[in-house]
This record gives sequence, structure tokens and C-alpha cells, in this order.
Amino acid sequence: MYELRTERLYLRAWKPSDRARFAAMNADPRVMEHFEAPLTAGETDALLQRIAQQFEADGFGLWAVEIPGVTSFAGFIGLYRPNFDAHFTPCVEIGWRLAAEFWSRGYATEGAREAMRFGFETVGLEEIVSITVPGNQRSRRVMEKLGMTRSPEDDFDHPRVPEGSTLRRHVLYRLRATQVGHARVESEGR
Ligand SMILES: CC(C)(COP(=O)(O)OP(=O)(O)OC[C@H]1O[C@@H](n2cnc3c(N)ncnc32)[C@H](O)[C@@H]1OP(=O)(O)O)[C@@H](O)C(=O)NCCC(=O)NCCS
Repeated sequence: MYELRTERLYLRAWKPSDRARFAAMNADPRVMEHFEAPLTAGETDALLQRIAQQFEADGFGLWAVEIPGVTSFAGFIGLYRPNFDAHFTPCVEIGWRLAAEFWSRGYATEGAREAMRFGFETVGLEEIVSITVPGNQRSRRVMEKLGMTRSPEDDFDHPRVPEGSTLRRHVLYRLRATQVGHARVESEGR
């Protein structure tokens, strides 16, 4: 599988030792403010399983984030394929989730920029999208810093969120490879 490095971050394969800290951040109401509820330990395990399956299938996915000299595990940043149907699927989405103590230092944007470069140049994706609830200003700010743009006509009701929930409405941000001058530059295997 692929691993990525930036000036400050190492986006790496998951280790068994990440599990407890990942469960702790998924149980933190600050981290999960824009989701239906914090995750139980069992839900974190199910998520880890889905992440592992995707790496197996694609060679890339939601990488574990290590910040050398700071922490061996801060959360995840990466690319994944949403497993629901919507007007923009199938697609590859870029996503991020960091423990609250590491927020607002530019880490999500730095890691996502490299994941995006990888997606366009190595995978050869033509477009990468990102979704969130309208109120997740931190996440939307990261999308905007990456050069992604949102059109109100792309807003949608997330099929996995129950009808009537205030978290059902989502905004969609898109970025096309041609908008950032990326092109596929290599096509090595895994
Ligand atoms: C979203 C998240 C990954 C951002 O990580 P991060 O490392 O703090 O992101 P960055 O530092 O690269 O950028 C955050 C930006 O949001 C801004 N910001 C912080 N708090 C904000 C707020 N309350 N309202 C608006 N903008 C805010 C920061 O100032 C920064 O923008 P700037 O560089 O222009 O100043 C992190 O907040 C997180 O893990 N949140 C919980 C999980 C989550 O919601 N994931 C996304 C699901 S779609």
C-alpha cells in the first residue's frame, strides 16, 4: 500500500496500537459534534475494519496520521469511496478527522493537500469531492483552503442520515484535476 509524507506529517498504515487512541477521539463529543453521536468502541472497530478493507481493495484510503516529534497518532486523513448512492456517486471523497488537541495548526489542510495530489497524479482521478453538514465550518474551511468549491445545486440529503435529523442536509465540494493543473504522472502498481 501507499504511504505519504509531508513537511510535518506521515500518512501511514494503521497499527494495532492506534486503536485505543482512535476509539478515544471517536468518543469525544467535540470531535463528533457534526455527527449523530460519538462512536462506541464497537463502532470504532467496525470503522477500522471498513478502512482496512478499502486499503486492501485500492492500496489507498484513510491513512493514520503520525506527526513525527509530536505524536505517533493524531487521527486520519485520506481518500475513500462513499458506499451510498447520491447524485455525485460513484466518486472518491477526501476526508479528515483529528483529535481536538491537534486542531487549528494546519495539519488537516497539509495532509489533505498531499492526499489530493496523490489522488490526481498517482491514482489518476479526474475529480475529488468532499461532503459535510453546512455547520461544520472547520471542515468547510479546509475544503476551501484546498481550492474546492461548492454549488448550492449540489446540496443533498444524506441517505444514511435519518429523515427529520438536522444532520441530514449536506453540502458537496468538488475539485477537478484540471482546475489545479494535476495530471497523472505515474502508474506503478501497489
Ligand atoms: C475538520 C478538522 C479535521 C480540521 O482540522 P485542522 O487541522 O484543525 O484544520 P486546519 O488547521 O488545516 O484548518 C482549519 C481551519 O478552520 C478554521 N477554524 C477553526 N475553528 C473554526 C470555526 N469555529 N469556524 C470557522 N473556522 C474555523 C481555522 O482557523 C483554519 O482556517 P485558517 O487556516 O484559514 O485560519 C478538525 O477540526 C476535526 O477533526 N474535526 C472533527 C471531525 C470532523 O468534523 N471531520 C470532518 C467531517 S466532514
